[in-house]
Amino acid sequence: MLSERVMGISPSATISLNAKAKELAKRGEKVFNFTVGEPDFNTPENIQNAAIEAIKRNESHYTPSAGIAELRKAIVQKFRRENNIDYAENQIVVSNGAKDSLYNISMALLNPGDEVIIPKPAWVSFKEQVKMAGGKPVFVETDEKFRPIPEEIAKAAKKKTKYLILNYPSNPTGATLSKNDLKRIADAALEKNFIVVSDEVYEHFLYDGKTHTSFASLSEEVKDITITVNAVSKSYAMTGWRIGFLACRTEISNAISDMQSHSISAPCSIAQWAAVEALNGKQESVGKMLQEFDSRRKYVFRHLNEIDGIKCTEPEGAFYVFPNIEGTFNRKIKDSVAFCEKMLDEARVALVPGEAFEAPGFVRISFAASIEDLKAGIERIKETVKKMK
Ligand SMILES: Cc1ncc(COP(=O)(O)O)c(C=O)c1O
Repeated sequence: MLSERVMGISPSATISLNAKAKELAKRGEKVFNFTVGEPDFNTPENIQNAAIEAIKRNESHYTPSAGIAELRKAIVQKFRRENNIDYAENQIVVSNGAKDSLYNISMALLNPGDEVIIPKPAWVSFKEQVKMAGGKPVFVETDEKFRPIPEEIAKAAKKKTKYLILNYPSNPTGATLSKNDLKRIADAALEKNFIVVSDEVYEHFLYDGKTHTSFASLSEEVKDITITVNAVSKSYAMTGWRIGFLACRTEISNAISDMQSHSISAPCSIAQWAAVEALNGKQESVGKMLQEFDSRRKYVFRHLNEIDGIKCTEPEGAFYVFPNIEGTFNRKIKDSVAFCEKMLDEARVALVPGEAFEAPGFVRISFAASIEDLKAGIERIKETVKKMK
């Protein structure tokens, strides 16, 4: 009965594990849930108020498919102010979160059999969206710090390659890319003639003084082959509001806007007004979240590395650590899926197995949880790993 498109999909592992952890919690059990891919903060009050005012003003009608002019203008200004990229309003399309923007890209660009290069470890939905659109994900290795390798990307680029997906800071690894790394990837893209989709949703979460460079800011020539994807979801603790956006040349943005007019019509009007305030309003909340995440990151990194069998690379951005846990394997626990099941069953700690990100032998731990929970949860992991010896 179901289409081949749907039958080939694996459900999002992060969402299903999260659901299992929540089910246990509902039964009254204390579960340390480190599977979560969203800030554990409330949406700042100024943004909440902007939404309430929009409701009271009766901003309750369909909006233009690509988003209200006020929001597209705020996004244009955000790109100029923060990313040093000069986009025009008609190059912007607002959608239901960055996930929806990425999905639209796959639907707008891929013909059956077209290939998409994805450096791995990679966020779970990249490959599934490509498959849903009839495309073929082609994974390439990253280096010891999980950074994409330009030579590997160039080698993987074939006639059928339509685009490359870059995501930095990265979910799940926390790795980021320097301007120089980006330049080398851009050279490969220009030489081999493929588009680069640059997913920058974690741009504000960078540590130790690191700064973010947007791929499209490298040059006019590079901007022309780039689709920049971003959202208010992570930066402003607005995951549930579902506002993301993309920016690119008008040939693509117009097509996506037209396509979207037949799928969702337009994103939620009230959430769009909230996003205007997020981008135009005071920005203090972003710095506060960053500070809090940074102290948790340091704690988690240090204490995980002290556990025998667990090896952790220090994340430079986002709010995840991605340790290798192969050193803990024994006769019964032979892979990350079994490890995560053991942790949930015995330690009541929920983690995501690396298999979900094309990286067996690793697990993803989100530190978007309170420091108390992180301390207690890591202690439980330590105790359970000790017993696995
Ligand atoms: C790398 C990456 N891109 C996109 C998204 C989706 O963001 P949104 O909630 O705006 O759809 C996520 C969310 O987990 C993500 O980790």
